[in-house]
Amino acid sequence: MINIKTPSEIKIMDMANKIVNTALSEVEKRISPGVRASQLNEVAENVVRKFGAKPAFKGYNGYKYSICVSVNDEIVHGLPEKNKVIKDGDIVSIDFGVLYNGYYGDAARTVIVGDVGQPVRDFVKTAEDAFYAGVSRMKAGNRIGDISNAIQTLVESRGYGVVRDLVGHGIGTALHEDPPVPNYGKPGTGPDIVEGMVLAIEPMITMGDFRVLYDSDGWTTRTYDGKLSAHFEYSVAVVDGGYYILGIN
Ligand code: MF3
Ligand code: CO
Repeated sequence: MINIKTPSEIKIMDMANKIVNTALSEVEKRISPGVRASQLNEVAENVVRKFGAKPAFKGYNGYKYSICVSVNDEIVHGLPEKNKVIKDGDIVSIDFGVLYNGYYGDAARTVIVGDVGQPVRDFVKTAEDAFYAGVSRMKAGNRIGDISNAIQTLVESRGYGVVRDLVGHGIGTALHEDPPVPNYGKPGTGPDIVEGMVLAIEPMITMGDFRVLYDSDGWTTRTYDGKLSAHFEYSVAVVDGGYYILGIN
């Protein structure tokens, strides 16, 4: 069932996502060679505490941390453990969610550490470009498959892979609500997009094969071929005439 949100619910979700994006920016500032992923987790926890919100991932299906820190070939759900030390030349995907006044916020970005060279810069930028290609199709009257197809077309036109195992999602009083939002698909298919929908749009892309492997920790998801992966996510509302990215103004 797809839950449609009222303007006042969207306002609360805007605030929830402001907290998420503030925390991600604070975490991003701390990312540099030598920093431990566990320290990044603390940075995010301090920000949510200050705002009186709760970290959304902690306790989710038994997940023990507040953020996910996925380095290089790790796609998502990397654990922010002490022995995960950031190095020069890494690309680091950080993913964070909160619960605020009964509503969830969820966002992610990939940060470049030091010198990586232009091909990797272009690759990381493509995750963000794919997000915007997707949301540009997010308006009442379109279908979910229009978003999916726009993301896939952009990513594949640049020669990269789109992860199929993991998808975007509705978000609201639950972290994951209907509908699923795949990052690949056919235009004109899937549920209708209607005003008041809120979706977490989150392309996960790879520099090679789109297939994934799951680590024995039960969480870390990485590329099958060991190539780099990037992730970009915001929660986005369908509003009169188009879309509204939550928590960025
Ligand atoms: N942010 C992830 C998503 O968008 C959820 C991670 S939940 C966790 O779906 F528990 F794995 F952290
Ligand atoms: Co999400």
